[in-house]
Amino acid sequence: MISFDKVAKVYADGTTALDQLSLEVPRGRLTVFVGPSGCGKTTALRMINRMVEPTSGTVTVNGTDVADVNPVRLRLGIGYVIQSAGLMPHQRVIDNVATVPVLKGQSRRAARKAAYQVLERVGLSPKVATRYPAQLSGGEQQRVGVARALAADPPILLMDEPFSAVDPVVRHDLQNEILRLQSELRKTVVFVTHDIDEAFRLGDVVAVFAPGGHLQQCDEPAKLLSRPANNFVSKFIGLGRGYRLLQLIDGAGLPLHDITCVTANTLRDKPLPDGWVLVVDDGHAPLGWIDANGLRRHQNGAALSDTVTVVGSVFRPTGNLSQALDAALSSPSSMGVAVDEDGKVIGAVLAADVLAAVTRRRQG
Ligand SMILES: Nc1ncnc2c1ncn2[C@@H]1O[C@H](COP(=O)(O)OP(=O)(O)O)[C@@H](O)[C@H]1O
Ligand SMILES: [Mg+2]
Repeated sequence: MISFDKVAKVYADGTTALDQLSLEVPRGRLTVFVGPSGCGKTTALRMINRMVEPTSGTVTVNGTDVADVNPVRLRLGIGYVIQSAGLMPHQRVIDNVATVPVLKGQSRRAARKAAYQVLERVGLSPKVATRYPAQLSGGEQQRVGVARALAADPPILLMDEPFSAVDPVVRHDLQNEILRLQSELRKTVVFVTHDIDEAFRLGDVVAVFAPGGHLQQCDEPAKLLSRPANNFVSKFIGLGRGYRLLQLIDGAGLPLHDITCVTANTLRDKPLPDGWVLVVDDGHAPLGWIDANGLRRHQNGAALSDTVTVVGSVFRPTGNLSQALDAALSSPSSMGVAVDEDGKVIGAVLAADVLAAVTRRRQG
């Protein structure tokens, strides 16, 4: 849908920001441009909406050279989100979000009404609508930035390091939000980041850039991990390469081991077996682990103290090997709690089984 054909950019001071970029951005997928700072990602992104003009080569959207399209008209059909959210500080959130629909000719009233729906879509409460941007947290501002870009329902969304300035927990939430939105909206998204983890989490396709504006490889994440095109790519993917591969292998075939489960009632009334036991609620959902060896007991053997260690992450068999390993390693008993889709405990996964599954996969 978006295509770069031998595109180069040399800025006025002689800096080569992009060198002979040829690349297809597929329709309806999320494509990530990733690479170290200064390697031309922003330059390439901003050529799509004509905020930067190529020195040579062509950028086409749906087969039309963008150089032939009026830049204002072009931008009304392309959402754009940047790191600082780019909100207008003197306008309330609702008017920030309604900006583009109003520019496109919608009445202010209709645009505001629609803006409330878009705010909800990006996970914001209607309460923020009447606030000014400075009265929001960084994460909320980024959500408003996304809402504003989506308000006119453009088929293309450009995102330039949108989550780089927020803390890791909020960033994770925002990434999940993008994945959720994208599974509903299926826009053509180009997402720029210098963070390889973010690239692998979000990208259907990942394009790796190197200094000097040279595209090194453009592939699906699994392919980049298993077949990096050269040393630069393999170094940039870095030490986590093997670990990241775990995310791409599904965990359905892992063996599930038995866990001793007790409810809060049996915990008080009956002797506990030795070792780790899992406390579950009446619906068999996990509540926490108890080390039965470490407990003081009544004479009848029932537990006196109920110090429960929270269950780490849980594993669902629809998940991947990374989630299984995380469940095992974050569990005080070394047994990762596996649950079915209703959240009921169905057994335990072990780190050794995850590693065995990876080995089998490599041999097979
Ligand atoms: N307007 C400009 N004038 C001169 N050089 C620029 C300009 N914009 C970017 N550059 C340079 O072009 C190179 C690529 O920049 P950029 O596309 O912003 O990279 P990235 O987004 O990957 O960090 C850098 O060396 C940068 O300093
Ligand atoms: Mg940049």
